[in-house]
Amino acid sequence: MEQSSPATVASPHKEPSGSRTGWWRDAVIYQIYPRSFADADGNGIGDLEGVRQHLDHLERLGVDAIWLSPFYRSPQADAGYDVADYRDVDPLFGTLDDFDRMLREAHERALRVIVDLVPNHTSSAHEWFKLATLAAPGSPERDRYLFRDGRGEHGELPPNNWKSVFGGPAWTRIEDGTENPQWYLHLFDAGQPDLNWRNPEVVAEFHDVLRFWLKRGVDGFRVDVAHGLIKQADLPDLVGHEGPARADELGPMWDQDDVHEIYRGWNRVLHEFGDDKILVAEAWVANSERRSLYVRHDEMQQAFNFGYMQAGWDAAAMRAEIDESLASNALVDATTTWVLSNHDVVRHTSRFGLSDPTRWTHGIGPDEEQPDLELGLRRGRAATLFMLGLPGSAYIYEGEELGLPEHTTLPAEVRQDPTFFRTGGEQTGRDGCRVPLPWDSTKPAFGFSPTGASWLPQPAIFGELAPDRQDGVPGSTLELYRSALVARRELDLGGGSLTWRQSPEGVLDFDNGEVRVVLNTTEEPAAVGEASVIVESVPGAYADGTLAPNAAVWLR
Ligand code: GLC
Repeated sequence: MEQSSPATVASPHKEPSGSRTGWWRDAVIYQIYPRSFADADGNGIGDLEGVRQHLDHLERLGVDAIWLSPFYRSPQADAGYDVADYRDVDPLFGTLDDFDRMLREAHERALRVIVDLVPNHTSSAHEWFKLATLAAPGSPERDRYLFRDGRGEHGELPPNNWKSVFGGPAWTRIEDGTENPQWYLHLFDAGQPDLNWRNPEVVAEFHDVLRFWLKRGVDGFRVDVAHGLIKQADLPDLVGHEGPARADELGPMWDQDDVHEIYRGWNRVLHEFGDDKILVAEAWVANSERRSLYVRHDEMQQAFNFGYMQAGWDAAAMRAEIDESLASNALVDATTTWVLSNHDVVRHTSRFGLSDPTRWTHGIGPDEEQPDLELGLRRGRAATLFMLGLPGSAYIYEGEELGLPEHTTLPAEVRQDPTFFRTGGEQTGRDGCRVPLPWDSTKPAFGFSPTGASWLPQPAIFGELAPDRQDGVPGSTLELYRSALVARRELDLGGGSLTWRQSPEGVLDFDNGEVRVVLNTTEEPAAVGEASVIVESVPGAYADGTLAPNAAVWLR
């Protein structure tokens, strides 16, 4: 069957307004999960000095920027997404001086640096929350969070029926010595109380936090749970089921229209520091159209395209997501931000090795179906090459340039993700994609730390995939990423546009400028015609006018 409509989707670059320019529109940004990237001090947890020591790797890889997941002071109830002090580095990761030094050296290598901002909730160890629990109901201290009286005769029932994203109730009752203590809302862990974003003090505080990091010289912020800050004012019950509401259901806690006013304010703060600072939204919303609202010209610059990330190994679904997101973002003159992996989802090399590559939401445990590693890596490489051929920006998650798989056999004793505990082990959680990186196959912990300590055990295959085994090896995953990133930059694919060609079912085929990008998701070779190869996902993927199964190629 032929896929119909060789529609041309206008590149946002060609939008009539054409007013939006900026480095981020076609940038490739590398996500560093600091605790798992590189450990310089040997305690088994990665740190900022470890990042600094490996900037060479990133420069050689050819990315434009890095995004660092949280390294702020935190009790680590959710691996740092529970922030106790937004203006300091947790001793686990180093000091503010370490940060400044890393930032300076990154900039010297023309790598921009984006930090994570966690505005939906603080840690329960944050000064504000401590004051709130000591203060009386109705006090200004309590009003910075979402405290409510309980239901039931003695307030013994939670104020509404919302569930935490991590499992269990979204409300916890404090113990303040009074007869009827109040409850506080936490859409995530009990150690992550949600802030009240209708309170101007909260708004002002985060403007100040933005300025604190902008003054230090950061290039932007990845905004955690950007779709969650504003809740429907009366906090109504979630109707229809037990929750937690998924973002695509538009529950009363997600994607409320009032949230956009917050980002307009942040946009103004960023502009105090020039025109090239960015905000990137982690926004799980219903569809591309809702997502595009976050990247209007007076709000954010980027929003991760999670629709595409969730499309599985399904050409029609991928194409639909591509078309919809290019079209929606073109309306607001923004480019699209592609991503396949991050610290919250099963690594794409493992997803694509499952019998159903869309069934991975809760991680993969030892008792579940184990991915076919070889197939997953083959498809993962093809998916990446295809993604990097699309116009717009792209994010790469640490270790995917090595082809690392998810760790799918971690024993329960070592798990740390709160989702595992809050669901009583029903959900495996996200530890499997957060395993410390290998740097040198010959060293303890494969070079992750000088002592061989590693906060999660690494699987043996991480040794085989360490950079020293791939560096300069033709056909290795690392060399594939390097050559694709060089070619992408030279050929300006990120700044280009997409025009579909006719293609058989299961094959995606488009022109981007002078480059033709083809992906074959089927198990059969696909005839694509004679051309010369720029980059192919595996050696020999393209030969005699034919693209092998589960492969991608850039042709000219
Ligand atoms: C985001 C983060 C995730 C974290 C959650 C709560 O989804 O990416 O890691 O657990 O927010 O902050």
